[in-house]
Amino acid sequence: MAKAKTVFFCKECGFESAKWLGQCPGCKAWNSFTEEPVIQTKVKGITNGTGSTAKPVPLKEVSSDKEERTLIGIREFDRVLGGGIVKGSLVLVGGDPGIGKSTLLLQMCRELSAGHKVLYISGEESAQQIKMRADRLGEFSGDVLLLSETNLDLIEAALEKEQPEVVVIDSIQTMYREEVGSAPGSVSQVREATASLMRLAKDKEISIFIVGHVTKEGTVAGPRMLEHMVDTVLYFEGDNSAAYRILRAVKNRFGSTNEIGVFEMTGVGLNEVTNPSEYMLEGRPEEEPGSVITTVMEGTRPILVEVQALVCQTNFNMPRRTAAGVDYNRVNLLMAVMEKRLGISLAGCDAYVNVAGGMKITEPGIDLAIVLALLSSYKNRAVDSKTIAFGEIGLTGEVRSVSMLSQRIKEAEKLGYEVCIVPKAKNARNVDGKPANIRLIEVGNIRELASLL
Ligand code: TYD
Ligand code: MG
Repeated sequence: MAKAKTVFFCKECGFESAKWLGQCPGCKAWNSFTEEPVIQTKVKGITNGTGSTAKPVPLKEVSSDKEERTLIGIREFDRVLGGGIVKGSLVLVGGDPGIGKSTLLLQMCRELSAGHKVLYISGEESAQQIKMRADRLGEFSGDVLLLSETNLDLIEAALEKEQPEVVVIDSIQTMYREEVGSAPGSVSQVREATASLMRLAKDKEISIFIVGHVTKEGTVAGPRMLEHMVDTVLYFEGDNSAAYRILRAVKNRFGSTNEIGVFEMTGVGLNEVTNPSEYMLEGRPEEEPGSVITTVMEGTRPILVEVQALVCQTNFNMPRRTAAGVDYNRVNLLMAVMEKRLGISLAGCDAYVNVAGGMKITEPGIDLAIVLALLSSYKNRAVDSKTIAFGEIGLTGEVRSVSMLSQRIKEAEKLGYEVCIVPKAKNARNVDGKPANIRLIEVGNIRELASLL
């Protein structure tokens, strides 16, 4: 009997190879190759649905009707999608296990059930389990169709028969097609499942939401290609210990990727958090050294967060440095700038930096708050609790401007802050609608900042 032919796939990027490789030439990941049987399925592209031969059309003649959107009714979710669900779009929702992906999508079904035909397909839970979860969420005004199935052929048939408007596929990793031959969750299965769902979404104009599990590195399991194939990629993230969850768009063909939605997990499902700043600052210490409030922009939304630092005498040869919620290397860089430009020695000090509330911040506007928190802890002097600070710090110790200054200041003003430490830059002086109740202190470099303490 002829030996079944196999090929090797990179789990990270989908790179194909005839033999096993230690390192993927495509994405340079190590140990990412898995062996899977070769399949000879005819891969159909996305057609225009009519089956006619390809004929290019002039751009000018393409109708530019706005895409049809359906509002879910969960405002935070609608915003992340760019203003509701686009008809015929394929949305991938990724996130750690237990973060609340199934809950969020079931809540979406609940809202939509009032006037739309929704089908929830789960490959992980039985209809009874889904019902139990639905009972926790409260009354449904309409009905939702449930299907516990993992076979793609049967799912396609069900979609054909029921013609729903919105479909949820709970976990793409459990779906399989028999001809493919490899186990569910493998590279070729995930790829095949996504491609067929994409085709269904476009041909039948069904909006499909697929749940994707993430690997320990934090990306959706299966090839990275999955993210290229779908229209929108949303990540549902948050600390397991903290109750709040953030829904973030990392790719969106129908809207901006800057928006986030904030939710809180409660006993009766996810609640929207409409004022995240207040939420993030709950229970913060007042007049304690090492605590500084800053504003970060999450898309077009300013959010106030607390940066904490602890600098203390080290007991080791190598001082310990840790950073939670901010980039570790950035903290090291800022400490080097402090040593050089302020002439203080931190070599004998351990330093710990933490963003309270478990948010992860990547924007450089948080630099000023980190330095101020470190200085405050180092000098053991508290920063006034009605003060916020933001700005980027360069290698020469200069404080540079940040984007959306006025929004940041206004948010601070709204929450009752009285003093705002801002970069000495042109755009700081022409903040539109001069804030009346907040005093701006402009700093040009970190020496000026240090002299404030
Ligand atoms: P789930 O939505 O199943 O997460 P995922 O699909 O991302 O794996 O469940 C999220 C967690 O939230 C689960 O541990 C139970 C909890 N939970 C609540 O706290 N309150 C609720 O109302 C529900 C439905 C779940
Ligand atoms: Mg789930």
